[in-house]
Amino acid sequence: MKSKVELFLFYLNLIKDRYAKIYLHAAILLFITILVSALTTFLPYLMKLIVDSSNNILITDVIDKNNLILLLAISFSTAWVALKVLTWTTNIFSAYFMVNIEANIIFSSFANFIRSKIDFVNKTDTGVLNSDVQRGSLAFGQIIYTIFLVLLPVIIQFLLIISVISFKISLSFTLFFSVATIFIFVLTLMLIRKSGSYFNEIYDADNSQSKFFLEKVNSVYNIKSQGSGDFETNKFRSICQNYIERVFHGNLKIGMLMIYQVFAVGVFLTGSMIYSVYMFNSNQFTAGDFVLISSYIIELSAPLVLVSQNLMQTNGHFVSIEKLEKYFKSPKDAVVESSYQLEETYYRFQDVNYSVNDVEILRNFNFEITKGTFLVIKGETGSGKSTFINLLLGINKIDSGKLFFGDLDISNSFSSKIHDVVSFVPQKSFIFSGSVMENILYNNNLHYSEEELIAILKEFNLYKILVNNNISLNSPIDELFKFFSGGEVQRFNLVRAILAKPEVLILDEPTSALDSIMAKKVFDIIRKNVSTLIVVSHSDSLIKLADAQLHFPLVQSQNLVKSGS
Ligand SMILES: Nc1ncnc2c1ncn2[C@@H]1O[C@H](COP(=O)(O)OP(=O)(O)O)[C@@H](O)[C@H]1O
Ligand SMILES: [Mg+2]
Repeated sequence: MKSKVELFLFYLNLIKDRYAKIYLHAAILLFITILVSALTTFLPYLMKLIVDSSNNILITDVIDKNNLILLLAISFSTAWVALKVLTWTTNIFSAYFMVNIEANIIFSSFANFIRSKIDFVNKTDTGVLNSDVQRGSLAFGQIIYTIFLVLLPVIIQFLLIISVISFKISLSFTLFFSVATIFIFVLTLMLIRKSGSYFNEIYDADNSQSKFFLEKVNSVYNIKSQGSGDFETNKFRSICQNYIERVFHGNLKIGMLMIYQVFAVGVFLTGSMIYSVYMFNSNQFTAGDFVLISSYIIELSAPLVLVSQNLMQTNGHFVSIEKLEKYFKSPKDAVVESSYQLEETYYRFQDVNYSVNDVEILRNFNFEITKGTFLVIKGETGSGKSTFINLLLGINKIDSGKLFFGDLDISNSFSSKIHDVVSFVPQKSFIFSGSVMENILYNNNLHYSEEELIAILKEFNLYKILVNNNISLNSPIDELFKFFSGGEVQRFNLVRAILAKPEVLILDEPTSALDSIMAKKVFDIIRKNVSTLIVVSHSDSLIKLADAQLHFPLVQSQNLVKSGS
């Protein structure tokens, strides 16, 4: 129970930073809800008054009697309209409330995931993440909805009904009514505790289906190229079959728990009805009393079943937000805002040790990358070149020793300001949906005229794509960019990096998808624009131009030096 409260407060805290009015809105919702409950209780009471007045032998004046009944009937219909308007207001307002909660949780999940350490990110399946976020973001709103719009109204209504019955009808009936209702509540609470594991089963089944779906939908090209369409479809068919079985199985178990509930409410309904018929027959209840009580019994049995089913669902919602919470607990990158002084030395490694996955990449490594240097990093694939570059970008952290950028120690935490002067083109270059302009000025606040941008695109032989497709710099390329060739994407990425006007440009195999003439041309442009270059490359012509080299695997070459000396 405590952990559910903690979980609830965790999400409330998460949301309230960006949705500050959440408490006010919840209070308004609560207020409307109380009004609805009050009116719902008041209506049957009015009905009782109408029935009793029409039967009242004490009122002998026919005109008085008719006026009274008319008045009561008008009050009844007015109250009914008010009730429906209030219910409508609740629906509209709660829709607004819920979508705010949902959007805020999705936003927080995104912001949180982006700050998570790369190892955590790499281990996360996007299909599973997507399902967990969708489910969790809806679930928290549902929990609040259930509390404010299902549970509280029924409790309030119950209390109001109890007071009306105890004042207007009989204490013994009140007692019977209360005990039976409380018994049903307790039974519900006991039943829902069992349901958590069933929900987990359902959500896990859902996640494994999403996992397969998203992975394969993103690999249709590869599947087609392997001629494995039927193979994957058959695999997915059995995954779906398994999904159906697991979800149905889980729902059946939950349904079984709910049916106990329905029986309990049924017994309550029957018992109360028999009780009030007896009271009416023995003249202890008036006809009005009987109408009132039967309305209450019927009115309360439906919400009682609803409450129990909602509480069961709420337990499922708690399972969902618990599943989502684990992403929020992910290890985060330590990013600070610290400034630095850049003089001669840009990067400095001091006695650095660094391994990934038990493979030693750096051992007692001492090295400096100075201003204006052209450093080439070479070595066989899998020797740690890209991993090394991740250290320079703050994506990975060294195990021991010290790493500096200028005079700033970045051994444990990276400064977001370093990205102002360091640009990077990854081995797997990327284009996002949007326009060419948005892609080449990605996260870039410098000002360029269209002519300047077109000039640089022409230099990189990219402008012809715009001409051939008859599009401008600002046209959306959402459908087009998937057809760009590897070399085109790579050149767009190089343009993006150069437009950022960096002090240091880091390139991971930047010309791997370019032919040698294009590679030379591109490289000449890069050299003209950036002074300090760190390039992973196998190209002999590039290696010849370099001021310094690092040959991976470094640890092995260090060993060779040692064993040779
Ligand atoms: N996060 C990681 N977890 C496990 N192994 C990793 C991780 N990152 C890199 N590796 C492994 O480290 C080695 C170096 O990888 P990488 O730096 O990408 O090589 P390359 O020199 O080809 O760029 C490879 O064997 C790779 O599989
Ligand atoms: Mg690499």
